[in-house]
Formats: sequence, structure tokens, C-alpha cells
Amino acid sequence: MKRFRHERSRKDEGRIGGHGGSGRGGARGGGGKGTGHSKRHPGSATSKASEASRYVVTGGAGFVGSNLVAALAKLDPTGEIIVIDDFRTGSTANIVEAFDREGLEPFSGVVLPVSIEDLDFEPLLESMDVRAFFHLAAITDTTVTDESAMLSINATPMMSIMQACVGSGVPLVYASSAATYGTPPQTGARKPFPLDAAGRPSNVYGFSKWLMECEHRRLADVLSSPPQIVGLRFFNVFGPGESRKGKMASMAYQLAQQMLAGKPPRLFADGSQSRDQVHVSDVVSCTLAAAGLGTRPDPAPGIYNLGSGVSTSFAAVADAVRRGLGIRDLPTEFFEMPADIRAFYQDFTQADMSETAKGLGWTPMHEPIAALEAYGRFLAR
Ligand SMILES: NC(=O)c1ccc[n+]([C@@H]2O[C@H](COP(=O)([O-])OP(=O)(O)OC[C@H]3O[C@@H](n4cnc5c(N)ncnc54)[C@H](O)[C@@H]3O)[C@@H](O)[C@H]2O)c1
Repeated sequence: MKRFRHERSRKDEGRIGGHGGSGRGGARGGGGKGTGHSKRHPGSATSKASEASRYVVTGGAGFVGSNLVAALAKLDPTGEIIVIDDFRTGSTANIVEAFDREGLEPFSGVVLPVSIEDLDFEPLLESMDVRAFFHLAAITDTTVTDESAMLSINATPMMSIMQACVGSGVPLVYASSAATYGTPPQTGARKPFPLDAAGRPSNVYGFSKWLMECEHRRLADVLSSPPQIVGLRFFNVFGPGESRKGKMASMAYQLAQQMLAGKPPRLFADGSQSRDQVHVSDVVSCTLAAAGLGTRPDPAPGIYNLGSGVSTSFAAVADAVRRGLGIRDLPTEFFEMPADIRAFYQDFTQADMSETAKGLGWTPMHEPIAALEAYGRFLAR
């Protein structure tokens, strides 16, 4: 086991920039997507940025990540943001649009277009002073059945990211998922999911997120004091910036697209399946709070739920989005759920948010129905 430093140390500033060589924190090995990275100068960091705070966001070109990157730029206009994304599902357009929505000057940070599998995080973090590391990169298509790919991207890099962050004294926040719950006993009674109900995921995606948490717990167990790492089990996230997620976009987005195309929204019968729907701006603000960038400077490390705390049926989602779009006709159509989907389907989710409030000092701002209606209005524009 490596030796971990808990205190933050003063780093040799600016090495990620054109002066120090990305080679120190560059891609590992000679092949794959990382090839050539060590020859590039990924950081356009200049001396101007040397005193600025730095933030790393893996998956920063994705739906949640791009919203987070814009929020960081708004929170800390002189900060330097380093996005690590292999563009599997992300797009630079997400970043451009997120900055536009926030009315910000264009993004001027660093983008490393590499896979997290190919990066050696320890020298990367040792070469610069990072204020917080946000790890969101993942295969997010929950229907992917290639178990090896899912685990090697979603779970395996977790240990080296944690070791690099702990070794450099950098707070780490990572995205876990409500998929870690599968169908816990609370489902039948339609009760909120307490943290200890997770661990029996229904698909390899949920299992990969569970493994991230296991690595986190394992590391915490061998250290004398808990590492400053927060895992957040995101529930069903919706909101601006998800248009490039295709079939993985939220139900709210997909139902809106059907209605905007003049078609009735279609749901599995009888529309009573219910999920904790959480607005992306709440996800972003909780993620910032988990890194000590919210109202509380000392969030308690650990694993937390991140939802609205409310479960909303898909029928109610369709109704709210329809109202937001200003559509009066197009009643919802229902069809039978195919048997292969039935086997893995989460009928109900609801986050128990009590520990999140206690540990992070954060509570959701958005009531789902009102937020879904507002989202409908946004999509109608
Ligand atoms: N959106 C939700 O409802 C939801 C729910 C639970 C958990 N999450 C988690 O939140 C995080 C963000 O999800 P999202 O909805 O923004 O999805 P997304 O697909 O839009 O974002 C994921 C990003 O990670 C990048 N990526 C994937 N593999 C990578 C790799 N090997 N190296 C570097 N980058 C890589 C993608 O290109 C993309 O930009 C993910 O970890 C996801 O599992 C999301």
C-alpha cells in the first residue's frame, strides 16, 4: 500500500502547461487513445493561471460534467478547469452550450481528450496544485452488456484516481448511481432508499458503480483518518445539456421529444413506475458542496444519495412536461413492458436524503413537478 499524504502540499505550479511537459502526467503506454498525449502540451495554463485554483473534471464534456464545468467557471472565474474526456458520449458542444446558458465568457480551460484508462493520475496531480477532482467519466449506457468494458472503464480506474487524490491531498468527488440499489426491500413499500440498502444491482452498470464504492470503502478502512472522498449516488438526472445522450437521455427529455414531434408520449403500462427525478442544477450544486465548495467548507467524507428525495411516476412526468411544453392534446399512450426489460427494471426509486443533509449540509432546491414543467418550457423554446 502506498503512503498517503493527507495534508495539501505546495506543488510545483504550472507543469501541466506549456512549460513543464504533459509527459509527467501524460498517457500511459504507447498504444490506444492515449498515444501521442505525452508529446502534446495539453495545458494552455499560463503564468496568469499559476496562482489560480485548478479543478479536474473527468467526463466534463458529458451532460452533468459540462453543467459542472460551467458552474465551476461561474463560481471561480479565475480558476483553471481541466476536462478529461474521451468523447465516447460527450461533446465539446455540451461545454459551449453550458457556458452560453450560464451567460459566461467562452470556456478557456484545458481539455485532455484521452481515456481515463490511459492516464497515470499520480504524476498528473503531483505536477500541479488541484483544488478539487470530480470524477464523472463512465460508460453511461446502462444497457451495455460488455461486462469487461463496463468494469474496466467505470470501476478499474477508481483506485488509481483515489490514490492520486489522497496522495496529493486533493478532495475527490465521484459519481456513483442509484443503480447500486437494484430492487431493495423498500421498493415494495415505496419507501425512500437508505444508504445501507444498496449492493444488489440489477445490471453490470450498477455493479460497476458498486465496485467504485467498494474501492472507496476499502481505502478508507486502511487509512488512519477517512480520506476526503465523497461518492454521490445520482438518481435520475434531467435538465438542460442532455440532448446528446440519445436513448440514455432522461424520460422527461424523451417524452418531450415525442410530443414536440406531434406524437403522443409512450410509457410502459400503466405509467405508475416511479423514479426519484433530480434536476441537473441540484446535482451540480450538491457535487460542489461535496468538494467543500458549497456553504460548508468541511463536508464529511463518505457515500451519499443525491436525489430530490421525492419519487415521481412516469405518468406524472409526462403530464408535467406536457404542461411545460404548452401542449393540450396528445394524451399518454401505454404499452406492455417486454419481458427482457421487466427482469432488470427498477419499478421505484426514491433517495433518502437525510444523511446527505447531515454530512454535506446540502438539500435539494428543486421540487420535481415544478422543475419538470420548467424543463418543458425550456425545451419548447
Ligand atoms: N444522468 C443520470 O441520470 C445519472 C444517474 C446516475 C449516475 N450518473 C453518473 O453521472 C456521471 C455523468 O453522467 P452523464 O449523465 O453526464 O453521462 P454522459 O454520458 O453525458 O457523460 C459521461 C462522460 O464521460 C465520458 N467518458 C466515458 N468514458 C470515458 C473514458 N474512458 N475516459 C474519459 N471520458 C470518458 C463521456 O465521453 C461523457 O462525456 C456518470 O458517471 C454516470 O454514471 C448519471
